[in-house]
Amino acid sequence: MQLAMIHDKIMPYEDLDPVYLDRGTFFGDGVYEVIRSYEGRIFALDKHLKRFERSLDQVQITGIDIQEVRSRIETAFERANIANAKIYFHVTRGSATRSHGLAVELQPNFFLTITQLEDNSQKKLNGIRVSTYPDLRWKRCDIKSLNLLPNVMARMDAEKKGCQEAILIDENGDITEGSASAFFMIMASEKKLITRQLGKEILPSITRRIIEEIAPKVGLAVVEHKMTPFQAKNADELIIAVTTQDVIGIVEFDGEKIGDGKVGEYTKKLMIEFGKYVAEMSGCEQ
Ligand code: PDD
Repeated sequence: MQLAMIHDKIMPYEDLDPVYLDRGTFFGDGVYEVIRSYEGRIFALDKHLKRFERSLDQVQITGIDIQEVRSRIETAFERANIANAKIYFHVTRGSATRSHGLAVELQPNFFLTITQLEDNSQKKLNGIRVSTYPDLRWKRCDIKSLNLLPNVMARMDAEKKGCQEAILIDENGDITEGSASAFFMIMASEKKLITRQLGKEILPSITRRIIEEIAPKVGLAVVEHKMTPFQAKNADELIIAVTTQDVIGIVEFDGEKIGDGKVGEYTKKLMIEFGKYVAEMSGCEQ
């Protein structure tokens, strides 16, 4: 008899809910997005949908109508009625008996949640501590895929050390990005905002792109090149950027104080400028 066991309950294999046979669970075979809303308005939806479409294309998941995805997001967001929401969704290749290959064409699975965003005002005010961890990820980190075990391991290590984010270090000793965030250095005297150049080693973060756009408004020139932990420790300011939190200052890197150990002046200016960008974008096509 073919069977399945869920916790301690045995059931005929044929009775199994297909949700348990999702290739996302077996293989991480799917791609996802995280979007947010500010005060009742979805932020940067077009940019996220574009990246999502690219992720689908890169892993060859076909048959997804992006306009249908957009309309599902909008419908669910309206129903949830949460002003500052975190909108998570993924598409997996589908459900089937576990086998690496695809014997038949599968129907992709769509899953979405809308939850309340945690209040991060204290983090914005006081900054966060980060620690480094080897970047154990695959060679296509530009795809927002469900395979996040190395990211999770990195974050757990950081949390054990009393830090809020892990900064990933590649085989050459260079910083790639955070476990779930983009990473920047600020050299105040040179008026430079430095971040790693896009490539297969990092996610093309939407928040990163917006920060690069607003940086000149606070007097910072954007420079894209590699950074080492040594350079990071000696930077005037460090920040991480992610959809759910936008700009967050780093006050400690591997146990060493950054600047005077407080959120820096440029970081504060970037936060304000980001807020203005959000306000301007509200209601516009993004
Ligand atoms: N992750 N780099 C990585 C590895 C990420 O996982 C994320 C975001 C970012 C920032 O990207 P964006 O600015 O587009 O949010 C950079 C999310 C939010 C997550 O996995 O929950």
